[in-house]
Amino acid sequence: MPNSVNPYNDRESKTRQVSKMFDRIAPYYDFLNHFLSLGIDRGWRKKTIAQVAAANPKRVLDIATGTADLAIQMAKTLKLEEVVGVDIAPKMLEIGRIKVRDKGLQNIVHLKDGDSQALNIDTESFDVVTAAFGVRNFEDLEKGLAEMYRVLKPGGKMVVLEFSKPKVFPFNLIFNAYFKYLLPAVGRLTSKDERAYAYLYESVQAFPEGQDFINILEKTGFKSNQCIALTLGVCSIYVGYK
Ligand SMILES: C[S@@+](CC[C@H](N)C(=O)[O-])C[C@H]1O[C@@H](n2cnc3c(N)ncnc32)[C@H](O)[C@@H]1O
Repeated sequence: MPNSVNPYNDRESKTRQVSKMFDRIAPYYDFLNHFLSLGIDRGWRKKTIAQVAAANPKRVLDIATGTADLAIQMAKTLKLEEVVGVDIAPKMLEIGRIKVRDKGLQNIVHLKDGDSQALNIDTESFDVVTAAFGVRNFEDLEKGLAEMYRVLKPGGKMVVLEFSKPKVFPFNLIFNAYFKYLLPAVGRLTSKDERAYAYLYESVQAFPEGQDFINILEKTGFKSNQCIALTLGVCSIYVGYK
């Protein structure tokens, strides 16, 4: 299912543009993440990790790992043998590697280049596969999810954290104004990228959230799929099993 919301233009593939965009904003990414979400993203990641912990995994694959916040938190708080993080933006991974080294987690957290739509990873090799704010950026969502399914062991768990559109009135209007106008303006000034934070809003609008995403998970083969809304629906955690 090709996704037509692109960061910059229609000439290059979405994957290439997304990689360029995250490389550009990499130095500002962590700061803006915490600043623009008022630190609430830390709570969302904690809830995501609670879903991972419930599966008692030894090996976790974190797709679209970025600067490795989720991978590092999982390595710190769970008894894991290995967390592998993959991403298409080398500069995001570079920052992730520094953070991993600073925290002395090099023996557990391994970061590598990798496109979710064609993972260079053995079939049925991970207990849990995670993706935080990643799947919305996939050029081909179904292909990416099919790869996540392939690398999971039978019975393995998929945990996806992604933005959604809040529905509760009047919070939805206030949040929408913030997300559509204020956040891109602050993002533009801070990250110096004209489009990155406008693309964030546009890609969330286009993302098939809630039951639509669950229908795609079912089509991919995932079972017992569930959507858990966070912060009045600003974000959702999706879980499913192979
Ligand atoms: C919003 S960031 C999220 C990073 C991290 N998971 C977090 O929670 O902070 C999205 C990340 O997805 C990566 N990404 C987008 N499409 C990808 C793909 N097809 N394969 C692997 N990574 C991808 C981007 O390079 C970027 O680092």
